[in-house]
Amino acid sequence: MEQRDQWATKIGLILAMAGNAIGLGNFWRFPYQLASNGGGAFMIPYFIALFFLGIPVMWIEWTTGRYGGKYGHGTIGPMFYLMARESLKPKTALIFGIIGGMLAFSVASLLSSYYYQIIGWSAAYTYYSLTGAYFGKDTVQFFVDYVSNTGAVITFWGLTMVILGIAVGQGVSKGIERWVKVMMPLLYVFAILLVIRALTLGSPVKPEWSAIKGLEYIWKPNFEVLSQNFFKISLAAAGQIFFTLSLGMGIIHNYASYLGPEDDVALSGLATVSLNEFAEVILGGSLAIPIAFAYLGPEQAVKSGVGLAYMALPNVFMHMPGGQIFGAMWFLLLWFAGFTSAIATYNYLVAMIEEDIHIDRKIGTWLVFIFLFLLGLPVALDSSLVYLSELDMWVGSYFLVLLGLFDVIVAVWLFKPDNFWEELHKGAFINVPSWFKPIMVFIAPLFMIILLGGNTWDYYKMGALSFHVSKAYVEGVLGGAYPDAVPIVMRARIVILVIIIIGAIEA
Ligand code: PHE
Ligand code: NA
Repeated sequence: MEQRDQWATKIGLILAMAGNAIGLGNFWRFPYQLASNGGGAFMIPYFIALFFLGIPVMWIEWTTGRYGGKYGHGTIGPMFYLMARESLKPKTALIFGIIGGMLAFSVASLLSSYYYQIIGWSAAYTYYSLTGAYFGKDTVQFFVDYVSNTGAVITFWGLTMVILGIAVGQGVSKGIERWVKVMMPLLYVFAILLVIRALTLGSPVKPEWSAIKGLEYIWKPNFEVLSQNFFKISLAAAGQIFFTLSLGMGIIHNYASYLGPEDDVALSGLATVSLNEFAEVILGGSLAIPIAFAYLGPEQAVKSGVGLAYMALPNVFMHMPGGQIFGAMWFLLLWFAGFTSAIATYNYLVAMIEEDIHIDRKIGTWLVFIFLFLLGLPVALDSSLVYLSELDMWVGSYFLVLLGLFDVIVAVWLFKPDNFWEELHKGAFINVPSWFKPIMVFIAPLFMIILLGGNTWDYYKMGALSFHVSKAYVEGVLGGAYPDAVPIVMRARIVILVIIIIGAIEA
């Protein structure tokens, strides 16, 4: 057998994993989740979920990935099959392989179909900041006009995809690793410069508004708000942990499959979590919200929601000294963050073609390009963003957790807890304390079952589950106009279904 590609250097591997995890989730999604879930109220369940869900599942995925890589596989289907065999007959083990493979394929492709769009917006806004295109304008209208301008949207998104294709086509050690080695250090430098700028912002509008007030909003534990919306906030926090750590997507497994069989996973997994959390709560938390607090005031800042990064902040940059440069830096930061995550889902799909259908990476890369382009086109063409939101509702909060639950079922339960524990510690630089074992075996999966149940209940209450989606769901959650948006929601659901079926056939 041909020698499988492996990470060339330890630092390259760590930067790639950090690049995988650190994404738009940290700088765009985290701030608006915080703002729409009561700031300091959100942080409490967030850290609880980090400890009981994030860290254990991260270790499980690293361990599973390295195990699959040993047998020449970088995708979930074969990984789950190999591990489930430990306690099941091959035929039954295959079922787990199929379910896992199907879920991971669906996540990697559907997630990419809308996530790459948002990276494209960042490319456009980097350019518009440099040229000052939105300066002096209504930034909400500017954004609406931008997403309606199909030509511009497809250009910036297409350009992003071409660069992604080039990076992934070069392979793991010669492509991905080299790109992240440049982009990740730049990302940290940009973020730190921006944080310094953000925290030295006084409010030009009202003296009582300031960036520090924004920090207070995030860091002052707010038990009162939490207890009023306990379930909603806890679900959102746990969902964010999954999203931000790239869990339940197959991409941590995939990157870990390019390790040697004796390479450490215990400390490296923990390092990935730490680097991501630093970039999320320290850097991500000190940017969008504090900046918006200083310039827009607490009320506006908290209300901006999804639009915080692309609609509210441009409004700030245009009034800030040096705003063109800081604006460009912010959006380029988003672009780097998104790009180094996108590379991972892209590579997942290429690995599938390479390993399962034995098509050369160079060709596979451009086949995936065509596939992702077709899948992303309806997202790009829908300026109401209903299609995008509907995909995010299912993929971003459901599929991830479901795959995470299968992670535990297969890699811990079926592979057997003792085998798993031994596998986790093979070549490990640290010892995971043994009291952590029950967290992985019982608490994390229980947490996920509650999360899935809670989400289902939530969707049901919103009228999202019925065939005829409710007005409240479309207008309140997806943000579309009722009758017009229904066919878009239906189209999105059909595409999701088709992708699941293709995934099952492939697996
Ligand atoms: N962890 C990533 C983030 O925070 C999530 C992600 C990875 C999304 C890869 C898409 C593709 O943004
Ligand atoms: Na992240």
